[in-house]
Amino acid sequence: MALVAPSLLAADFGCLHEQTKLAENAGADWLHFDIMDGHFVPNLSFGADFVRQMRPVSGLFFDVHLMVEEPLNFLPMFENCGADLITVHYEACSDLPAVIRHLKERGIKVGISLKPQTPADVLAPYLKDIDNILIMTVEPGFGGQKFMPRQLPKISRTRELIGSGDTTLEVDGGINTQTAELCVKHGANVLVAGSAIFKAEQPAQIIRQLHYAGEK
Ligand code: DX5
Ligand code: ZN
Repeated sequence: MALVAPSLLAADFGCLHEQTKLAENAGADWLHFDIMDGHFVPNLSFGADFVRQMRPVSGLFFDVHLMVEEPLNFLPMFENCGADLITVHYEACSDLPAVIRHLKERGIKVGISLKPQTPADVLAPYLKDIDNILIMTVEPGFGGQKFMPRQLPKISRTRELIGSGDTTLEVDGGINTQTAELCVKHGANVLVAGSAIFKAEQPAQIIRQLHYAGEK
């Protein structure tokens, strides 16, 4: 069964407490926070204080996706915000080992994300040190984009690299019940979905389908 991580970027920002509760009650496993700096990606979203203020609202596993240039400069802000996992972009870090060390020393799980043009094999030197790999299946920056099927071989290759290790393999961008099935068949086990969940009439039904995507 895949884990499901609704992305708050697609939620109604006027009532984020309710939207978080809705995701939780609908069966979500993780809650995905998209943090954008307007440099690494051409968009802005929210910061560490937002994550901190949401922490008392939900018992979900907080999955923070940092789309910021040089995340090491931002990590002190994120230290006590209640993030369970912080995933940084490979392309954004001039010193990735320092980022990994910083998070591990503070007991926060660490992930690496790859943009669509970055090959899976760059992960090889870091595999034993990380908890999560996030493969972007759209160009990062905006919700509601179309899934890129050309990322599927990269998902398979990432699964080969992880092997039987317990690093999670997360996919993000254009995930719906159809594309989730393809991703799971290629080895993904965490599904981020924004629009597919928050724009749905019955989010619980979508989350159930995502949980079992690719299983039969
Ligand atoms: C895009 C973000 C995604 C986005 C997914 O840069 O990383 O998490 O919110 O949204 P959907 O599921 O609508 O493509
Ligand atoms: Zn994301």
